[in-house]
Amino acid sequence: MRKNIVAGNWKMNLKIDDALNLANDVINLLPSDNDVEVVFAPSFIHLEKVNKMCLKLGLVNTASQNVCQQERGAFTGEVSAEMIHSLNVKYAIIGHSERRGYFNETNEDLKLKVDVSLKNNLKVIFCCGESLNHREERFHFDWIKRQISDSLFHLSLDDFRKVVIAYEPIWAIGTGVTATPNQAEEMHKFIREIIKKNYGEEVANNTSILYGGSCTSKNSKDLFYKDNIDGGLIGGASLDPESFISIIKSF
Ligand code: 13P
Repeated sequence: MRKNIVAGNWKMNLKIDDALNLANDVINLLPSDNDVEVVFAPSFIHLEKVNKMCLKLGLVNTASQNVCQQERGAFTGEVSAEMIHSLNVKYAIIGHSERRGYFNETNEDLKLKVDVSLKNNLKVIFCCGESLNHREERFHFDWIKRQISDSLFHLSLDDFRKVVIAYEPIWAIGTGVTATPNQAEEMHKFIREIIKKNYGEEVANNTSILYGGSCTSKNSKDLFYKDNIDGGLIGGASLDPESFISIIKSF
């Protein structure tokens, strides 16, 4: 059966000491019977040190927040999947709406990023999400379907098993407005349905689908209680160890 996962996307926050302290505090506060997969996504520059700490203590995995779509070569300032994997990092987050929005990453670019990540043995946390406009125009289901099918549905069944989906409605990110548990569940169920159509029931049932967007310790219990919500991709609330831990404990 699919895993419950709580991932902290630290975005462009924290100096190195703060990042290591946060990782250390969360690891120390984890309940001894924790069976939720916990993931930290620090900036590239902190990834190696944070990951080393996680590997040593063995309780948390890490993710990069992005990856270059090119395999290697003259791409100044970029970081390759091969480099990330060489640190023994487990995941790459791909397709976050901030990357799509501020850096113009298209579904086609993201398809390449997914491919190069899987080729280099990174698992993928693939983000999708609609704007408020799309939702108000009742275009949100079509939009999500397009994002997922354009970037993921070319994958073989075996490769698709290495993908976690994160549904993050853009209107909920950093706004304090969370999707209601019913709104999130409705979309997660839809996502699982389209996975089922493409890859069959067993793969669909084994794919973890996370919710992201103003998820805090106040609403995580109600969200995670839903059948198709298998955890969260947490921004702001992942920067505080107590808040992050209470989100982890809300299953
Ligand atoms: P917030 O939790 O700050 O809304 O951010 C969500 C997010 O973008 C996680 O990737």
